[in-house]
Amino acid sequence: MSPQETPKTPAEVVNLGHKFDLFQDLWSPRIVAELNGQHVKLAKVKGTFVWHAHPDADELFLVVKGQLEIELRDRTVSLAEGELFVVPRGVEHRPVAREEAHILLLEPAGTLNTGDADSDRSVPDPLRL
Ligand code: NI
Repeated sequence: MSPQETPKTPAEVVNLGHKFDLFQDLWSPRIVAELNGQHVKLAKVKGTFVWHAHPDADELFLVVKGQLEIELRDRTVSLAEGELFVVPRGVEHRPVAREEAHILLLEPAGTLNTGDADSDRSVPDPLRL
């Protein structure tokens, strides 16, 4: 069998609930899958994050549990469980969670959680679960 014909090992099922059980720290994304140069990340959030933008990356937020507000400069987007929103590249945003929320992010690999902000909350190299 040539290398081209070697069957790929099927990707594993990712159970979001199980993955969220593996960490507790807030605003610290974990990578749980990747595809086409994008990372699927999970994060637990509570409180107010920092204003930032990603000049070269659109960023998808999906609320898995709880509620999330994404403040934009001209409006606030409110997301309930099961809802998603894509922040377009270059658009300033600030996520806010009044109670702890569990969110899924989809964005290009290497996207920094704090974007262009100079912040001590940056996680340059997220852990993989
Ligand atoms: Ni962002």
